[in-house]
Formats: sequence, C-alpha cells, structure tokens
Amino acid sequence: MTVIVTGGAGFIGSNFIFYMLDKYPDYRIVCLDKLTYAGNLSTLSTVLDRSNFRFEKLDICDREGVYKLFEEESPDIVVNFAAESHVDRSIEDPSVFLNTNIIGTSVLMDACRKYGIIRFHQISTDEVYGDLPIDRPDLFFTEQTPLHTSSPYSASKASADLLVMSYHRTYGLPVTISRCSNNYGPYHFPEKLIPLMIANCLSNKPLPVYGQGLNIRDWLYVEDHCRAVDLIIHKGRVGEVYNVGGHNEMMNIDIVKLICKELNKPESLITFVTDRKGHDMRYAIDPTKIYNELGWRPETSFEQGIKKTINWYLDNRTWWEEIISGDYKNYYDRMYSNR
Ligand code: NAD
Ligand code: TYD
Repeated sequence: MTVIVTGGAGFIGSNFIFYMLDKYPDYRIVCLDKLTYAGNLSTLSTVLDRSNFRFEKLDICDREGVYKLFEEESPDIVVNFAAESHVDRSIEDPSVFLNTNIIGTSVLMDACRKYGIIRFHQISTDEVYGDLPIDRPDLFFTEQTPLHTSSPYSASKASADLLVMSYHRTYGLPVTISRCSNNYGPYHFPEKLIPLMIANCLSNKPLPVYGQGLNIRDWLYVEDHCRAVDLIIHKGRVGEVYNVGGHNEMMNIDIVKLICKELNKPESLITFVTDRKGHDMRYAIDPTKIYNELGWRPETSFEQGIKKTINWYLDNRTWWEEIISGDYKNYYDRMYSNR
C-alpha cells in the first residue's frame, strides 16, 4: 500500500505518519506538505531517512505538481490533513483558507480521479456543525446535524466536505470523511489553546482567555484520532461521514487552571481578553456511529493525555521555542497586544 498523507508536517498529520509507519512497516508513506508557518520539517526528522518514507514540499493547490507526484507514486490511499487550521487567522484573512481548504481539496480529488485510488479520506472537523447552546447538555453533533458554520475556517472546511460528497456522487470517487473534535498532544502548534497556555506558563507570561472562558470544547488525545482515521480508511464504508470524539467536554477556563496547577504556576497569570468574533460556544460529538460500526473507543483519558502533553512540551523545549522566537512573535503581537 502507498498512502499519501497531505499536511504531514503539521500537528495531527505528523502524529498520523508516526502511527502509520509504526503500525504498517510494509506500507509506503508519502508526505506532501507546503511547509507553511504551521508546517515544520524538523517534526519529521526521525523518519526522513526511512526507505519507505518520502517527503515532498508541495502545495495541494499546485495541480501540475500534485499530478506529477501521483504519477510517480501511484497511491492507493490519500488522507488529506493539509489545511489552514486556525480560526483566529481565518478571521484576520479568509482568502488563504478558501484556496487551501477548498480549491486544494478539489485538486487532490481531481488527481485521485485521474490516477485512480481506492480511498480518498478527508479530515474534516466538528466545527462544520456550528455550535451548541451551553445550557443544553443533552444536545450533541451527530452525522445528521445540519452544516451551520460560524467562522471562515469552518465555512471553508464545510465547503470542502460538500465537494468531497459531490465527487462521490458525481464521479463515484471512493471517499470517506471524518469530523473530529479538538485534538491535543505532541507537536501541537503553540497558537492553539493548550500549547499556547503551556508555553506561556513556562515563560511566566499572561494567559489570555477569551471572553469569560466559559466556552466548551470536546478534547481528544491526538493518537486516538489517528487510530480512528486508520480504522476508517481500512474498514469505513465508502461515501460515509464518521464523527470522532470521546465525550470529554471541558470549559476553557478549567483547562487553563489545570495547566497552571500541573506546572505549579499561579492562576494570577490568567488574563481575560476581548472575545473572539463569532466565538462558538460549545462543541460536543456524538460518536455512536464510529463506536458501533468500527468499534473505536478513545484510549487516553484527559487526565493521562494532558500530563503526557505537558511532559512532551517540557522535554521538547527547542521544538516550540524555535517557533515562538520566529515569525510567530509578529502574529502574537497582532493578536494579543492591547486586546
Ligand atoms: P496544522 O495547522 O498543525 O497543520 C497543517 C499542515 O498543513 C501544515 O504542515 C501545513 O504546512 C500544511 N499545509 C497548509 N496549507 C497547505 C497547502 N496549501 N498545501 C500543502 N500543505 C499545506 O493543522 P492540524 O491541527 O494538524 O489539522 C490537520 C487537519 O485536521 C486540518 O484539516 C484540520 O482542519 C483538521 N482538524 C484539526 C483539529 C484540531 O484540533 N487541530 C480538529 C479537527 C480537525
Ligand atoms: P483553539 O485552540 O483555537 O481551537 P478552536 O477555536 O478551533 O476550538 O481554541 C480553543 C478554545 O480556546 C476556543 O474557545 C478559543 C479559546 N482560546 C482562548 O481563550 N485563548 C487563546 O489564546 C486561544 C488561542 C484560544
């Protein structure tokens, strides 16, 4: 089997590559990544010289380049993680989100049609369902929940999902889609809530909580997501959407307090800042379909996962310190100073 993994130099894609190389030593894994600000080749340094691994620096919107790679590699499976993934950046400037997340996905699927594959898997997000009210803990996102997006990011991901289903119906492309809740774990880019709070705590910097910190996310350890994708690409039904989440809803403020506690830092570092525009209140996945059809269950509790994650950031300071000392500084100033 040859598997093309797009966006494999980012957070979830890199964890998926490690998972796949470990589990399927006879598979060939080809990583296609543009290395945007969020992609980091050093993340893949331990696997770069493996004979069954290839890294190709490429934009998924580059049709000629993508076709050439498909011609050379004849992939059996394509898993599309490549995306602009940060809601706050999409609020600043939606255009690159539309290009990568929508046009890029269509270029990849055109290549799949042209060269033939057995599966195109689209990594989507629970954010395509919009949000749920905070006072209705009985409500969850199922695969039947209508798409109802809030941010340019989620709108671009929902658009891609619609395109994926249209390629299935119109051209018979063998597709699957997974819509996962918020991931956390190693190699998470420090602009996102959990790694940002860990990095700021370790530098004794203020911890910027949006609004009152009452928003709820449904957190899943990244390895559990990778296992779900593995099951879906091998055993999932073509043309189907699978929600992925482990019933682990937490308020932002409680997560930030927990990180302070684990790192022995005072809660006085917490600063409440102006809320995100259009901020989704609550995400909560109903994972019944993947539980029943594929027997998937999360294996890492939040208690274990957050400890593992914090330890990883303590043990891998160079990885994130290099990031936050570069271009990221400008982003951080734009986003947080005088907020
Ligand atoms: P990330 O931002 O950490 O990584 C994205 C990767 O894609 C980077 O390596 C980047 O260089 C690459 N990339 C961006 N534009 C590209 C382009 N035009 N061509 C090729 N490569 C490009 O993102 P992530 O958090 O790992 O998310 C991966 C996928 O999972 C995304 O599709 C995202 O929507 C989805 N998702 C993420 C979460 C989460 O909590 N992080 C939850 C659910 C779904
Ligand atoms: P984030 O990690 O950006 O993921 P998403 O918005 O895609 O769910 O944010 C998670 C939650 O944390 C979200 O409600 C916004 C909030 N947040 C803060 O309060 N402060 C921050 O500095 C960041 C980055 C996020």
